[in-house]
Amino acid sequence: MEEKIKFLIEKLNNEHSLELDEYEYLIDNRTETARNLLKSLAVKARKKVYGNSVYIRGLIEFSNICKNNCYYCGIRRDNKNCDRYRLTKDQILECTYEGYDLGFRTFVLQSGEDSYFTDEVLVDIISSIKQKHPDCAITLSIGERNKESYKKLFNAGADRFLLRHETADKEHYEKLHPTEMSFEHRMQNLQDLKEIGYQVGCGFMVGSPYQTSKTLAKDLKFIEEFSPEMCGIGPFIPHNSTPFKDNMAGTVELTCYLLSIIRLIKPNILLPATTALGTIEEGGREAGILSGANVVMPNLSPLSVRKKYALYNNKICTGEESAQCRTCLEQKIKAIGYEIVTSRGDMKEGNF
Ligand code: 5AD
Ligand code: FES
Repeated sequence: MEEKIKFLIEKLNNEHSLELDEYEYLIDNRTETARNLLKSLAVKARKKVYGNSVYIRGLIEFSNICKNNCYYCGIRRDNKNCDRYRLTKDQILECTYEGYDLGFRTFVLQSGEDSYFTDEVLVDIISSIKQKHPDCAITLSIGERNKESYKKLFNAGADRFLLRHETADKEHYEKLHPTEMSFEHRMQNLQDLKEIGYQVGCGFMVGSPYQTSKTLAKDLKFIEEFSPEMCGIGPFIPHNSTPFKDNMAGTVELTCYLLSIIRLIKPNILLPATTALGTIEEGGREAGILSGANVVMPNLSPLSVRKKYALYNNKICTGEESAQCRTCLEQKIKAIGYEIVTSRGDMKEGNF
């Protein structure tokens, strides 16, 4: 193998850090041998911290109403073809009861930026879930708000927050979002969430329009410096009612390569093999686990709304019941030699 790339992979494995131009080199010069070396070190690092365990999170997509207009996203405000819905508090609670019986101990509440869900409404929902299931973690994935609001939701019982940074390059950010959204605001939100005490997840799409190895290197450096508890990455997949409908999708190959790099940057990070990864290719999520991911997030949303929460085309798991999805994933994980565990699945602390 080319000496330099081998050197960089080993350096990353030992020091959990590279220079910006080294990350860029790693992305630009990847070969089959580099991929395999990186993957085997990532799997080793993952095993050392988490063994064969794969954590599951029950995803509840409770509203697809969104005030934003991100160019890539299928539930953007201007998509008039999107059939909008909003679950009631009772419907959300019902999902958690079903999920609890299926063994879920983390619920991820995800939605568009829907102004119906004020702090008051969310505090009520979060505290009700916590009251019924004090042994469960609640993860919010509800977009940008202000620090006061994040504090109230944290005090009501929310444990974790996912807010993908989308790209760590300001110019790139501005090519993916209309001018009413700002890179600085998103980054400030991430800092605020961390200061409040949430376990925080950032993340980005792989192969998003205008992404380059330079912007990706910045994403990796950002992850290294921000040191989030979680990181969600999945391939960009075009949605046919968005401005990016004709753009190319990201690949399983690059997504898996980046998953391995992220695992080596932070061996104890919680790293999901995303639904998007399973959507662009059959076996995509399994490939993600085999590259260093350790989390899967099956869908717990009511069957009646599943198809409506379409961020991208051809999303999988929109036709199966929660129980089916849970069993299906369990089998897939087992088949590759890993094991789904029923626990909150917090990040393991320690010096890895
Ligand atoms: N393809 C892949 N991922 C997408 N997301 C939004 N739209 C798409 C798409 N077309 C991701 C974004 C967002 C997360 C909830 O889903 O990164 O933060
Ligand atoms: Fe959802 Fe297979 S994981 S149906």
